[in-house]
Amino acid sequence: MTNDDNRGGPGAPRGWREATEAALYGPDGFYRSPEGPAGHFRTSVHASPLYAAAVARLLCRVDEVLGHPQEIAFVDMGAGRGELTTAVLAALPGDVAARVRAYAVERAERPAGLDPRVTWLPAPPAGVTGLLFANEWLDNVPVDVAEVDADGRARHVLVRDDGTEVLGGPVAGPDAAWLARWWSLDAEPGARAEIGRPRDEAWAAAVASLERGLAVAVDYAHDREARPPFGTLTGFRAGRETAPVPDGSCDITAHVALDACAGAGAALLTQRAALGALGVTGGRPPLSLASEDPAAYVRALTRAGEAAELTAPGGLGDFRWLLQPVGIPASAALLVDVADHEEE
Ligand SMILES: C[S@@+](CC[C@H](N)C(=O)[O-])C[C@H]1O[C@@H](n2cnc3c(N)ncnc32)[C@H](O)[C@@H]1O
Repeated sequence: MTNDDNRGGPGAPRGWREATEAALYGPDGFYRSPEGPAGHFRTSVHASPLYAAAVARLLCRVDEVLGHPQEIAFVDMGAGRGELTTAVLAALPGDVAARVRAYAVERAERPAGLDPRVTWLPAPPAGVTGLLFANEWLDNVPVDVAEVDADGRARHVLVRDDGTEVLGGPVAGPDAAWLARWWSLDAEPGARAEIGRPRDEAWAAAVASLERGLAVAVDYAHDREARPPFGTLTGFRAGRETAPVPDGSCDITAHVALDACAGAGAALLTQRAALGALGVTGGRPPLSLASEDPAAYVRALTRAGEAAELTAPGGLGDFRWLLQPVGIPASAALLVDVADHEEE
């Protein structure tokens, strides 16, 4: 990286937040492309139908806590092409399915052929009661990046469209306050941080759209005690990790400071613990089943393999679930047996 803001070349340098906003959501942005996120990476939603089934069970628990209202909302925040919403609708028991109102909230256009029961919106519906679920949404809310310069000061990192960077002005105001509170930057030159303030605000706005119920954000995350010293900003293209270049050709993502997003009464769990509490475990079926009912054994083995992927240490199992209750008892009530599954 150079230290001077030399103009010219492939686009003038600008903050990572602005550059990412254009690269992901501009007219030719990465998330506008027809193949959608699933064309470039696998989330838990694509890994197995067990995931949507677990989310459907969580919706049923929320429904119970809310006293089975006449209408219960399922809001899929950052819905991709509506895959989770569609699968949750299919997995719900009849009595809940008859009362559910499904919303997919997305910046991309509604995909052709989507279940007509799904309402497609650019922002969450206001004042609904139910479950808002955001799987791998917050990591795609663009953020600015700070880097410590040779004199030990935190400066904004600016980026050109080809991915080359220069240092900009010092980090000040609310961004500096956010870093001081949530991500204290080592004075070592070159140390970097992603400034999570826009994500805190985006999450607070999504939570505020609920009248009553539970909001859940699931993402790869880090805690204040162990932030990555050089940040986690990276790119993904066609299933592979790549350099983050803000030209619309790749996803640009960074792990989420979910602890900074958490509001009063929130709980933070690993995906392994949350899915365990919702009945997804990776145990193999008994061998005796293989002789009694070979087809059932093969199905159970497939399920066990998928559950293992969703809960794998070092993989999807390490994702974090942020559970934020709104006007209902603390989230522990919804995942009653979670303590039995928490291994940390
Ligand atoms: C990584 S994808 C996840 C898709 C899906 N939830 C899944 O888990 O497969 C993130 C999605 O969030 C959408 N997104 C980002 N910011 C958004 C916003 N402010 N409102 C609605 N959707 C948004 C993107 O367009 C993208 O489709």
